[in-house]
Amino acid sequence: MLKLAGVETYYGKIKALHGVSLNVEEGQLVTILGANGAGKSTILKTISGLVEPENGTIHFNNIRIDRKDPEKIVSMGISQVPEWRRIFPDLTVYDNLFMGGFLIKEKELLRQRMEEAYIHFPILKKRKDQLAGTLSGGEQQMLAISRALMIKPRLLLLDEPSMGLSPLLVKDIFATIKELHKSGVTILLVEQNVNYALKIADYGYVLTTGKIFLSGTYDELIKEEKVREQYLGEGKYTRREKLWGG
Ligand SMILES: Nc1ncnc2c1ncn2[C@@H]1O[C@H](COP(=O)(O)OP(=O)(O)OP(=O)(O)O)[C@@H](O)[C@H]1O
Ligand SMILES: [Mg+2]
Repeated sequence: MLKLAGVETYYGKIKALHGVSLNVEEGQLVTILGANGAGKSTILKTISGLVEPENGTIHFNNIRIDRKDPEKIVSMGISQVPEWRRIFPDLTVYDNLFMGGFLIKEKELLRQRMEEAYIHFPILKKRKDQLAGTLSGGEQQMLAISRALMIKPRLLLLDEPSMGLSPLLVKDIFATIKELHKSGVTILLVEQNVNYALKIADYGYVLTTGKIFLSGTYDELIKEEKVREQYLGEGKYTRREKLWGG
């Protein structure tokens, strides 16, 4: 469904992605793991067209998308939940969802999608007239995901959905992602929460300074000493060394 081949992305003269190749098959939940600054968000932004790659190609259902506008990419069915949620804090829950459906011209369909969001996250219905900025962190994450689901995406890009949430809410969010996946949504999930992410994913890529250096299933990756030591806190390494040379 999604295929990146040799993708290189720059910010000015700084090279953030050094030839990234990865695949997501329809119906899969694939995760990208990596430390701060590894380039995880850059991969998602390059897919959604917010930044353009200098080299390489991105195909979505066999159509090349790496030179297309973000809006065009959304209309093809790729929806992104950005890092730190980025909901509109001064708008109500309802209006945030409404904005997520900006491409939907039919009122009835928009209403239906809104109802689906409320079924998925009943708390959002209770809070529909509340300003989004006053929701709790977990509720904001639910809203950000619901907003991205308004277009019924074929591929959902999630950028560190567990960031800044309490351990209990992290558990909830991962349960939600697992449910979404089960309901048939194809997901590309960026995470630092390796243990959780790998457990629910079909396949994982480990990114280090803009390069994929390992990939595999949970069983394959968990066998890798580097993954265990640096991500799961096992072994003799110090905290600093655990940050992928950072
Ligand atoms: N707008 C930008 N301008 C310049 N450099 C940038 C910009 N955005 C990201 N970078 C740099 O690109 C590299 C990759 O950043 P990116 O945000 O993709 O990392 P990340 O893996 O998502 O990290 P984190 O886990 O902290 O979110 C970093 O070195 C970062 O400083
Ligand atoms: Mg990031």
